[in-house]
Amino acid sequence: MKKNSLKAKLSGKIPEEVINTVNRSFEIVGDIAIIEISEELEQYQKQIGEALLEVNVSLKTILKKSGIHHGEFRTQDLVYVAGIEKYETEYLENGVRFKLNPGKVYFSARLSTERSELMEKLDEKQRVLVMFSGAGPYSLTALKMKPNLPLLTAIEINPDGHKYALESLALNKNMFKKTPEYKSFVKFVKTHKLPVMEKETLPMFNKTKVNFINANVRIETREFTSKFSNKKIDFYDNNIFDYEFSNIYHILDQLKDTKINIDVEKIHKLDEFINFYILFFDKFQWVAKIKDKDYLFETAIDKTVFLDYLRNQSTRKLEELHKYDEIYMPLPKDAELFLDCAFRSAAPNAIVHMYDFVHENDFPMKSENAVKKAADKNGVKIEIIETRKVGQYSPRKYRVCCDFKIL
Ligand SMILES: C[S@@+](CC[C@H](N)C(=O)[O-])C[C@H]1O[C@@H](n2cnc3c(N)ncnc32)[C@H](O)[C@@H]1O
Repeated sequence: MKKNSLKAKLSGKIPEEVINTVNRSFEIVGDIAIIEISEELEQYQKQIGEALLEVNVSLKTILKKSGIHHGEFRTQDLVYVAGIEKYETEYLENGVRFKLNPGKVYFSARLSTERSELMEKLDEKQRVLVMFSGAGPYSLTALKMKPNLPLLTAIEINPDGHKYALESLALNKNMFKKTPEYKSFVKFVKTHKLPVMEKETLPMFNKTKVNFINANVRIETREFTSKFSNKKIDFYDNNIFDYEFSNIYHILDQLKDTKINIDVEKIHKLDEFINFYILFFDKFQWVAKIKDKDYLFETAIDKTVFLDYLRNQSTRKLEELHKYDEIYMPLPKDAELFLDCAFRSAAPNAIVHMYDFVHENDFPMKSENAVKKAADKNGVKIEIIETRKVGQYSPRKYRVCCDFKIL
């Protein structure tokens, strides 16, 4: 018996006959190990946890699973066993730092290779949508491995998951590349002797436009895309270009809730115009007239889409800016129920990755049939690329991923 093995550390602390029944496999997230303890071994859990800490010196805390992943948020209950009593940790995966509490948001370190393999294959010109983003492992790995992506939207319903994804995004902010426009903006600020840039404006210059959406406020992909339907809006006729730049700052507070009117066809100096709006990004509600339709741009996401439209108006239609070329659906329990949303958000030739749980007797037909049925219902033509086994879920049941293409 090796001196530093779990067996050796447990010897003399728990009955010899139960030592061999201790489950040696466990999951590590940062400095927390998550173990499984059978009912028979519960009385020895403290000793098992402490022995594990002795064997793995980088671990600080041992928690145990209490039941399986459950509910809409797919979380698992965790109980403290040994070491420092804490539930939050920092974890490094594929060069990305994550902060999370594995009891409050779904997270599986076992899927790290799946993520790196998928992002390795991702073309960096694609607009990416992660429909069930959790603490952000798919989204942040995509950003890390493909820093030139034009657009990434991540949607998560669990407010804790969303909070941790945002915190991890901040931890990794050095992985963002700035756009070439950044220099011109800095020059603009200096020329007009404008005060220091607001924090909110800086992410506008990241090469990748990033939207993390908390779907708990029920902005689902469906509503998100339909926001840009033909909406008529009343607005105050308050043309801020009548003011000198320096005056704008004095009246900013009064203008905070003002809806401002933008007639896209009458913009002459596009660069200056875009810089101006970036500077006042979190102020005003914008109402833009585009080809005789009025659109309201209220939230940061709406405004990002609008500015992207202005930069690309010769090549893209506004509605198309809400379409994605690569869509990840990592919710094996229910992803197929959201295929309608995926079809609505998909650009022509988009690739969709739908996860599923499948019994070995139904592999791969169950997932492929679900995709084909939903495609027929939505009048969309698709081609299945491959249905892959990604891991074992339970005896004879697999976590699989059905990769398909929109034709
Ligand atoms: C299996 S977890 C995967 C999380 C993450 N992508 C990962 O791999 O770690 C599925 C996630 O989908 C979220 N979810 C469930 N229903 C949702 C919905 N309708 N809209 C957005 N997110 C949802 C859950 O809260 C959960 O965090």
